[in-house]
Amino acid sequence: MNKVFLNLGRQPLANSFLKNVGKNALQNEIFYNLKICFNIKNYLVSIVKPVNPKKQYTDKYAHRASESRTMRSAFKKVAKKLFKRFKPKKIMEIGSNDGVFLKNFDKKSVVAVEPCKNLARLTKKLFETYAEFWNLKLAKKLLKKKGEIDLIFSANTISHIPNLKETFKGIYNILSRDGVLVIEDPSLLKVLQNNSYDQFYDEHVYVFSSISVNNIIQEYGLRLFDIEHLSTHGGSNRYFICKKNGKHKKSLRLKKAIKNEKSYKLHKIQSYLKFSKRVNSSRKNLFNLIKRLKKNNKKIISYGATYKSTTVFNYCGLNSKLIDYVTDTTLNKQGKYTPGTHIKIISPELGMNNTVDYAFLGAWNFKKEIFKKEKNFLKRGGKFITHVPKVMALSK
Ligand code: TYD
Repeated sequence: MNKVFLNLGRQPLANSFLKNVGKNALQNEIFYNLKICFNIKNYLVSIVKPVNPKKQYTDKYAHRASESRTMRSAFKKVAKKLFKRFKPKKIMEIGSNDGVFLKNFDKKSVVAVEPCKNLARLTKKLFETYAEFWNLKLAKKLLKKKGEIDLIFSANTISHIPNLKETFKGIYNILSRDGVLVIEDPSLLKVLQNNSYDQFYDEHVYVFSSISVNNIIQEYGLRLFDIEHLSTHGGSNRYFICKKNGKHKKSLRLKKAIKNEKSYKLHKIQSYLKFSKRVNSSRKNLFNLIKRLKKNNKKIISYGATYKSTTVFNYCGLNSKLIDYVTDTTLNKQGKYTPGTHIKIISPELGMNNTVDYAFLGAWNFKKEIFKKEKNFLKRGGKFITHVPKVMALSK
């Protein structure tokens, strides 16, 4: 049923930035094989052999959603919108990170679930937070303690959990009769259209489409009734889900989204085989471009130590011989080294100086924000390199 269509090779955990590159640190780096498959029955795209979540979501988890202005305002906006539309009395978030979404509500009406202990610690002082993995057992415990939940929100988390059965069974268990589950995850259609194969890394066990979500959740007594397309993370979908007998009507835009994905043939293996060929060419083109520039004595750095760029660097063979360093605004990443390829990460203040000729856009999903911020770099002839939607150097 599962057909493998893409092999992105040996990869480290995308967020396992190294404190140093001594022998010990390198020996302890965890690698796995990143192969992607398509389920011809339910249309789900997933990693063939997911990494154990206990190795990924530890008390050293680096990503803080509040650090990006774009994300902060996006979460504030959606919190307001969901509150107005569904008027929930009780709200729960699965994967609450640093509380960027839940802090927009009345603190007494929210419950947070966040397995990364360093993040859960941040919100414990603000509202009720459970530093646990989401599963049926936790759902039952919370149902006893809190009662049914009217709105469950989960952004960039459900696609990270290998066990969908436990996930959706738990959600069904605690969701009120007309309650709503809202999940946000990167869009598979966008990945195929943008050739953004870097959406595949260990944490993204699944890259969802509306046709696959529609199929999977039915098994657990749930149904999809609406969808919104978002620009976050290079193109995401916000899925609106309710119980099979819930009062919510299927929207026209959901019907359109399903039709659109089918016209792009997201239900056919051939589309994925073609995508795989494009990804292969993308790798060759990016490596050749960077090698050629390096031969011509150009200084190339990378902009944004993203998880996505872990996939690109390791798949394309880009290491510290080709990329001088990576700049990133996250204090927690500065001074560390990129997973697998061991390129030093420094602050943009230090790194974006006059000696840089080219900067690879690791954070291509923030292209607009970055181009605005770095207009002086562009003005003096600096260029960005991207692989989305195809490999090219950009001067504006
Ligand atoms: P993110 O969008 O979360 O991507 P991923 O999920 O692939 O890690 O990460 C964006 C990263 O880019 C984050 O570490 C912050 C960094 N960044 C900069 O360094 N400068 C910028 O101007 C922006 C917008 C982001």
